[in-house]
Order: sequence, then C-alpha cells, then structure tokens
Amino acid sequence: MNFENIIVSQQENTALITINRPTKLNALNKKTIEELHFAFKMLDENSSVKAIIVTGSGEKAFVAGADISEFANFNIEEGTELARKGQKILFDFVQNLGTPVIAAINGFALGGGLELAMAAHFRVASTNAKMGLPEVSLGVIPGYGGTQRLPQLVGKGKAMELIMTAGMISAEEAKNWGLVNYVVEQEELLPLCEKLASKIARNSSVAIAAAIKAINANYTNCVNGFAVEIEQFGLIFDTVDFKEGTTAFLEKRKPNFE
Ligand code: COA
Repeated sequence: MNFENIIVSQQENTALITINRPTKLNALNKKTIEELHFAFKMLDENSSVKAIIVTGSGEKAFVAGADISEFANFNIEEGTELARKGQKILFDFVQNLGTPVIAAINGFALGGGLELAMAAHFRVASTNAKMGLPEVSLGVIPGYGGTQRLPQLVGKGKAMELIMTAGMISAEEAKNWGLVNYVVEQEELLPLCEKLASKIARNSSVAIAAAIKAINANYTNCVNGFAVEIEQFGLIFDTVDFKEGTTAFLEKRKPNFE
C-alpha cells in the first residue's frame, strides 16, 4: 500500500513507521491518522513482524500534535467525532495491538504526539526531546486519551500540573517521571529501539500479546485485570509456543518460536 504521510519499512522482525510531514513537524492530520491505522493493522497481521517502532521524520519533531488547522473551525459534534474516531482507530488501537509498539521520541512530542507515544507500549526518547500536552493554551483539552494515559503513567499530580500549565518537560525529566524508559543521543535512538525490539522478537509473540491484554486490563473500566490474567494464562496452555518454550527449557536448548 502506498502512503502519503508515513513511511513503513521492515528489517528482519522489526517494522519501522516514520511519520513524514516534517514541514508541519509531523502534525497528525486526518489522512495521517488513517494511514497510521492501516499501517499498524497491516503490520499486526503480518506474522513476520514481532515489534513495531514508531518515530517522526527529521531531527526536530516526533509529532507536534494534532493538526490545528484542521479542527480550528469545528463545532461540538465535529469536535466530539474527531476525538471519538481518533481514539478508536489510532490511540486505543495502538494500545490494544497484540504486536509490541515502541515510540522512539526524536524531538517535540506535543498534544496528539505525546498521546500517540503514550498509547505505545513503552517509550524511548532522544536527549533533545520535549514533551507536553499544551492543549489548554489553545483553549481545548487533550482529546486523544491524554487526560487518562498521562496520570496512569506519571501520577495524577504531575499530570494535572503538566496539563494545566501547558508546559513542556525535557527528556531527562520525562525519564525521572517514568514517562520514558531511556534517554539517548539522537543517533542512538533507533539503534536502541531496534535492540529492544530484537530482544522482544526472541520471545513468544503469542505470550507477549496475552501479556499486553492482561496489563491493559488494569486500565480498562469495569474489567478485573486479575481475572483477565487468569483467563489469558489458561489459554496459553493450548498454544504451540507454550509447548515449545517449556520443552526447550527442559531439553536445555533455546526455544524456536515460529
Ligand atoms: N498543527 C498544525 N501545524 C503545526 C503544528 C500543529 N500541531 N505544529 C507545528 N505546525 C506547523 C507550523 O504551523 C509551521 O508551519 P508553517 O511553516 O507552514 O507556518 C511548521 O509546522 C513549523 O512550526 P513552527 O511553529 O514554525 O516551529 P517552531 O520551531 O517555531 O515551534 C513548536 C515548534 C512545536 C513549539 C510549535 O510548532 C508549536 O507550538 N506547535 C503546536 C504545538 C501544539 O500546541 N500541539 C497541540 C495541538 S492540539
């Protein structure tokens, strides 16, 4: 499939999605959100892809937010639909993807950009990265899950402050807050993400998808995470990967997960 605003590539078991609107600091317009949905779906359905890295093109921005020019004249219905559809096809979609998604934050991750990074399963940032949810400075609020995922990741007080002040934090602060797992020089960003992806690829992707479901259950309304864990744990016993993983251990060899 040909994309206009993103570039998709694959090296061994790792796919890379690069959001490619550098002149607009990779801002998420409608088309980019739709393309991202198709790309994540396509890669998730490709069994040779064991992990996905998402990043921004250029050295300045991961994503500088939702494209302000597209929603500046929206009314209540259009605004509601923008958030509802975006959450459904991209942000919730990424969070619930069975294939692990790593956000490689290579610069500004603001508004929808930080929201996309927070929907990913974990985040790595380059030293120049700056993160924030500046929506209230535009008279709007985060609408792609930011008011929910930021408190989950950093705690309610810090989330309240970042959202209310519309401030930006540095990569190092984000690491201290637990928002990103690592901070590295920009040239080290993709190599580190690729290294993490290749570590992930050695494990059972069936078990990883089950673990993602169980972990996410804790953050889903009216769902008991412990019950989901028990259910996912039980289902694993009927998988080829479980047989291979445990047999390999007992035979003192490395597992070969297909
Ligand atoms: N939506 C639409 N266009 C955006 C954008 C966004 N969220 N963020 C940046 N752009 C565009 C700018 O309009 C500019 O386009 P132009 O050259 O056609 O005028 C281009 O990207 C470069 O941005 P610019 O503002 O000139 O870069 P800068 O280095 O001076 O500032 C930022 C960088 C990130 C501080 C600034 O672009 C910014 O504040 N962006 C909006 C962030 C935001 O509020 N995001 C939340 C949206 S809900």
